[in-house]
Amino acid sequence: MDIDVFTLFPEAFDWFAGQRHVRNAAARGMRLECVSYRDHTPLSGGQVDDTPFGGGAGMVLRVDVVDAALRARYGRDPVELHGQRRVVALTPGGRLLDDELASELAAERALTLLCGRYEGFDERIVEHLATDAVSIGRYVLSGGELAAMVLCDAVIRKLPGSLGDETSAVEESFSPALEGAPEYPHYTRPAEFRGWAVPDVLLSGHHARIREWRLEQARRRGSGEAKPLR
Ligand SMILES: C[S@@+](CC[C@H](N)C(=O)[O-])C[C@H]1O[C@@H](n2cnc3c(N)ncnc32)[C@H](O)[C@@H]1O
Repeated sequence: MDIDVFTLFPEAFDWFAGQRHVRNAAARGMRLECVSYRDHTPLSGGQVDDTPFGGGAGMVLRVDVVDAALRARYGRDPVELHGQRRVVALTPGGRLLDDELASELAAERALTLLCGRYEGFDERIVEHLATDAVSIGRYVLSGGELAAMVLCDAVIRKLPGSLGDETSAVEESFSPALEGAPEYPHYTRPAEFRGWAVPDVLLSGHHARIREWRLEQARRRGSGEAKPLR
């Protein structure tokens, strides 16, 4: 998979790119690269944004700047890219990122992520240059970089070879294997601590019963029957 992240702050991704699962995926052919809008702006002085028509606070990322950056990267009209790669604008009001969307994006051959800053995107970027608008939650961050990293993380851990144990990403919270429910509880040594004992079934060595218990716990969490996680 090829992932291009368009941002004003490419250096923000240095730490993320060094994480083990990202490096593992890279070793298996995943490519993660950042493109700076500023490197391709057609405006003088590295300008990338402008004041909003109609007035109001903040600066808006310009459509001609994003168009120029996409054009420089892909050598063609960005609108023509749409059949070939998902171009995702990170924006608070977009489709909420969940496990289903992460799996959908992990199945793509190529992704382009557009990070906004300041007051956000000129709406024509979302409407005409992007194929998708994605939000990582109903709250507002200062920029799309953290949102892009969250999305990349959720997607990359689904790629083969990313995690040490291939099965880790198969049976986890919200996965089809757990019927979309939060994952069951985990325990490790000591088996008892301050009188807090690990459920007996997990010490039984009876794999079928353990599997049944875990699925039941996940279902209870999913139905809200179990105590919500704090
Ligand atoms: C300060 S925010 C802009 C907020 C915008 N004025 C609004 O009220 O919706 C700047 C940029 O951060 C990113 N961003 C902020 N919160 C986000 C979220 N919850 N999900 C995805 N991206 C987000 C977007 O790229 C956005 O363009």
